[in-house]
Amino acid sequence: MTDRYDLIRHQLRQQPQTWLVTGVAGFIGSNLLEALLKLGQKVVGLDNFSTGHRRNLDEVQRSVEPAQWARFEFIEGDIRNLDTCRAAVKGVDRVLHEAALGSVPRSVADPIATHDVNISGFLNMLVASRDAEVKSFTYAASSSTYGDHPGLPKVEERIGSPLSPYAVTKYVNELYAGVFARTYGFSTIGLRYFNVFGKRQDPDGAYAAVIPKWTAALIQNKDVLIHGDGETSRDFCFIDNVVQMNLLAAMAEDNARNEVYNVAVGDRTTLNQLFERLVSTLAENGVNSDVRPVYTPTRAGDVRHSQANVDKAERLLGYGQKIALGEGLRQAMPWYIRFIAERSALNA
Ligand SMILES: NC(=O)c1ccc[n+]([C@@H]2O[C@H](COP(=O)([O-])OP(=O)(O)OC[C@H]3O[C@@H](n4cnc5c(N)ncnc54)[C@H](O)[C@@H]3O)[C@@H](O)[C@H]2O)c1
Repeated sequence: MTDRYDLIRHQLRQQPQTWLVTGVAGFIGSNLLEALLKLGQKVVGLDNFSTGHRRNLDEVQRSVEPAQWARFEFIEGDIRNLDTCRAAVKGVDRVLHEAALGSVPRSVADPIATHDVNISGFLNMLVASRDAEVKSFTYAASSSTYGDHPGLPKVEERIGSPLSPYAVTKYVNELYAGVFARTYGFSTIGLRYFNVFGKRQDPDGAYAAVIPKWTAALIQNKDVLIHGDGETSRDFCFIDNVVQMNLLAAMAEDNARNEVYNVAVGDRTTLNQLFERLVSTLAENGVNSDVRPVYTPTRAGDVRHSQANVDKAERLLGYGQKIALGEGLRQAMPWYIRFIAERSALNA
């Protein structure tokens, strides 16, 4: 049976479109870029390299044909500047807005910076995209919007109070998106990503996500810190599922627009379980580590449990086959092993 994702990819190959990917030098943005170029699309990318890297763009270049790479135009710029946003959306059919300052602890440490990029920058992108009359606007929302709501699994309609400045910004994005639909008739789709992982997710820095941070630590025999008792749980979502949902959302029918969707697998894994899985997946790749986790106090702003219900995405967008944690780790691990080895060789 052909699913909706296959149909859309076929349609896009037949009739290529022009896309804007903001945050294109980041983890999710660069994976979207790679997928779109491989489908023969034209892509404009916008990034200010605040948390993204030129090396991510270089890697995409190496992974596509020269003719595909020639369809990519990069703009180095900041979404906090409206004129930059207007220039970036010019002539664009579909916007995938990923640029933001991620990380709950970063927002706790510096709420103003997170607010400026994630709210003012988002509003600039909305205004520029509305005025350019783009055909679709899909943006990165977040599972952090569920805040302190105790219900599991998380259903889109039931949210609690935000637990961090980051969560506020992502919820305000949804509120603005709703207002733009009601006030200007400008429709959007928000994708509430749950802990995404995969190749090119940055393992470095104080605000790195748990999978790349722990993987790098295990490879290098460094301490792995678990905040709390390790029974905190997450619905870890492989990057290919996120790429699928972005394409489905961008090409959605009218009845599926002006909505937010969970983007996850629908499973729940504790941090203790994740640690064991990382150790065993590394061992399958010939990397044996005898590092044991070090338990530290819980962090402010962290949600205790997270698990998505993905029925709405399946029903309205045709969200099809999902890659689960184990398979995603098997696919991502060789990239991390190579990345850390190349970096160690450079620093030697
Ligand atoms: N990775 C996850 O698990 C996850 C979960 C929920 C939501 N999200 C959201 O997904 C999006 C992408 O996240 P990611 O994990 O790829 O993070 P990332 O940090 O790798 O990518 C974000 C990109 O945006 C760019 N950027 C930041 N501020 C900018 C600005 N002012 N102007 C232009 N570019 C700017 C950065 O340089 C970076 O390349 C973000 O909106 C994030 O909040 C991610």
